[in-house]
Amino acid sequence: MSKRFYITTAIDYVNGQPHLGHAYEKIVADVIARGRRSLGQEVFFLTGLDEHGQKVQQAAQSEGKAPQVYCDELARQWMAFVQKLCISNDDFVRTTQARHKSVVQALLQKLYDRGELYKAPYRGWYSWKEETFLTEKDRRPDGTFDPVWGEVTELVEDNWYFRMSRYQSWLIDYMEAHPEFVHPPSRRNEVLSFLRSQPLEDLCISRPAARLSWGIPLPFDPDYVNYVWFDALTNYFSIPAAWGDPAALSALQGYYASESSPKAALELWPADIHVIGKDIVRFHAIYWPIMLHAAGIEPPRQILVHGWWQKDGQKMSKTTGNVVDPVAVIDEWGVDAFRYYVLRELDIGPDGNWTDAGFRARYSAELANGLGNLVHRSLSMLQRYRQGVVPSVHHELAPEAERTAEEVRSCLQQSRLQPALIAIWSLITRANQYVDHTAPFKLAKDPAQATRLDQVLYNLVETVRVVAVLLWPFLPTTASRIYAQLGLETEPHRLTTARWGGLPPGHKVGAPQVLFPRKEH
Ligand code: ME8
Ligand code: MG
Repeated sequence: MSKRFYITTAIDYVNGQPHLGHAYEKIVADVIARGRRSLGQEVFFLTGLDEHGQKVQQAAQSEGKAPQVYCDELARQWMAFVQKLCISNDDFVRTTQARHKSVVQALLQKLYDRGELYKAPYRGWYSWKEETFLTEKDRRPDGTFDPVWGEVTELVEDNWYFRMSRYQSWLIDYMEAHPEFVHPPSRRNEVLSFLRSQPLEDLCISRPAARLSWGIPLPFDPDYVNYVWFDALTNYFSIPAAWGDPAALSALQGYYASESSPKAALELWPADIHVIGKDIVRFHAIYWPIMLHAAGIEPPRQILVHGWWQKDGQKMSKTTGNVVDPVAVIDEWGVDAFRYYVLRELDIGPDGNWTDAGFRARYSAELANGLGNLVHRSLSMLQRYRQGVVPSVHHELAPEAERTAEEVRSCLQQSRLQPALIAIWSLITRANQYVDHTAPFKLAKDPAQATRLDQVLYNLVETVRVVAVLLWPFLPTTASRIYAQLGLETEPHRLTTARWGGLPPGHKVGAPQVLFPRKEH
């Protein structure tokens, strides 16, 4: 057995509303996961929920519910959301699960035994909304804190600290030796210049249980619960441990016993990619590798940072009603139209802007008139002129199709999703132009052109098949529907099958069905 390609998303705050940003992050991770599977790798894809902390405790209280009951109700909605997006996750972590809590406690105890934790009084400015202590650097020139932090008050209390400052130069060296650790490079540069410009402070990793009971108790001091970010980050490691991952188990030896049987064990750690948004880079690129390193555990291989979506050039906000509801869009236009728009519109890294007009324009030009039209007319003509029977193999479009497949392969290996779609659509455009240039409807009228018509029809249906294979990681439902219309009983989920000539002569294709209905608006 060998290590699986292990990819994660951030775990969402359970008390938030699933929105466009959450949907985008899951779709990006899903395409990378499916892309790796298409490349023949074994994959483990984890997503889930962040359920502890002040805000959850307060929200549950204000609804008169026990926090666990409150979380269980919301978790059902989040899991339905994940299904709606056609996400191919292999597990779903909730930080209130026993399997997670026991690993957090094991990690804390190990750090404690290694002398990485200490107790000290703390006086500081605390953001209740973001559950974090702020520093002088978070103050604005006029001495106040930005309203994004919500209510900020001064607190004095004893707390437990993690000696993070010890590892500052280790992390700088590590990042210099591993240029791919934070991607894209602009985010890496931000982290590196932050690390080089100021001393790291130790990290407060506890909250007094008297103030906050909804958390994981520190195993060595039950008057405290674990700071929610320490708890949340550990999800990426606790689930491998729960699956019996040998690297996780050996790191936690003496602190943790996995319930999974050794036969079912999966090799997962280190994670290959943590997909996150730009607001939580510091937690993932600084706290997390140092937490692991201090415990003698290898850091993840890559933090892949995406940008944030706005709508109509403005921050999305429930209070102003400026939101995109992914579920409503999917119900109206289909899940693949939604997946296509977010992936094609926004490369991984910069910020994006959703507009309904932009969505409709891409739907109409690229899905209905581009892909949909190509599939529909290729199959219709094969039905009309050849009773749906595939003619002899012909190679006119093979060079373009194979070049595109090569390009998509390399993109999938590098998590370059938007460039892959651009490449696929240039093949689609080429094939649609090929119809216009070769004019099969004219060829069909001239019996002397029968061989030429066979050639054109083969090139079209085979391009359609190759496109389905290339599209599978991105638009899995559409790709499967194309395969079904082609009368193929397999799934288009392996990139090796994109090789030209896969449609056997004599095979009978099915009837064309509209993939992306044109809509009048
Ligand atoms: O931060 N556009 O959870 P969260 C794109 N629980 N992405 C967005 C976005 C937007 N408008 N808004 C949010 C948390 N996101 C923690 C994570 S991980 C150990 C703990 C992204 O529900 C955001 O950047 O606030 C983050 O990656 C994810 O959604 C979850 O955000
Ligand atoms: Mg957030």
